[in-house]
Amino acid sequence: MQIHTTIAGLRDTLAGSSSTVLVPTMGNLHEGHLALMRQARQYGGPVVATIFVNRLQFRPGEDFERYPRTLEADCGHLRAAGVDHLFAPDEGQMYPRPQTFHIDPPTDQAGILDGAARPGHFRGMATVVMKLFQIVRPHTALFGKKDYQQLMIIRNMVQDFNLPIRIVGGETVRAADGLALSSRNGYLDANQRKEAPRLFEALTKVVAEIRRGNHDFPLLERVCGDELASNGWKVDYIAVRNKIDLQLPPAVHESGLVVLAAARLGSTRLIDNLEV
Ligand code: PAJ
Repeated sequence: MQIHTTIAGLRDTLAGSSSTVLVPTMGNLHEGHLALMRQARQYGGPVVATIFVNRLQFRPGEDFERYPRTLEADCGHLRAAGVDHLFAPDEGQMYPRPQTFHIDPPTDQAGILDGAARPGHFRGMATVVMKLFQIVRPHTALFGKKDYQQLMIIRNMVQDFNLPIRIVGGETVRAADGLALSSRNGYLDANQRKEAPRLFEALTKVVAEIRRGNHDFPLLERVCGDELASNGWKVDYIAVRNKIDLQLPPAVHESGLVVLAAARLGSTRLIDNLEV
């Protein structure tokens, strides 16, 4: 695996490739990321992983400073997963001057759910992903369904800007007890880690109820939220939405739904979702 820290070096190496496959990350890689890397290899082109903890998508007071940076271990995992190139720029490469132009996703996409809890997050995310698209010029780019709203926003950005990039979604990889893998799981203490799978269990129950024909979504959301709250969680949202645009579904509608949740255990914020 070649490691690149400069845009010029990466571009030189990739010049002439029309089949580059991109998997952007913020590092501290786990099986969820690595599954995307292995999936990326199926497309045949050179696989480029990126590791960059993007300050722009963190709000003041969030975990930018303490976000785990584990480059050496990450490199080992990427090599084992068969990644061809790692692009690991520093802030000076990505933001040689403060970013002046931004990608501003519309409020109905970026102001709801996670965007309501984290104003500006998706603007910072979309801006860096657009930069990475321009730097790498991929044919295909992979993103996890774990971050469902992020994936939707990127799909819409690619469509609206006519970017010649195929966006592929990867299934969420979970621990044996159901907890969706996340770099932030490392913040949980032993008791919180034991409690954490309840989020996935709660989503599973909502999905089962919907499949049984219970379409009182506000009730299902409330019951699910109450159960988490009574077990010590601070719930940001539990929401039954249309998969395609994450808007409120019509009342009687079963296919094409996804249930999304964000909740805090102590100071650690976990997100998860499950398609119906
Ligand atoms: P990060 O949180 O590092 O995630 C990188 C990619 O891995 C994202 O596409 C995310 O959805 C995917 N991923 C994370 N956990 C996963 C899991 N358990 N199963 C499957 N896929 C999983 O998302 C970001 O970084 C950033 O916002 C980024 C897109 C890199 C822009 O800065």
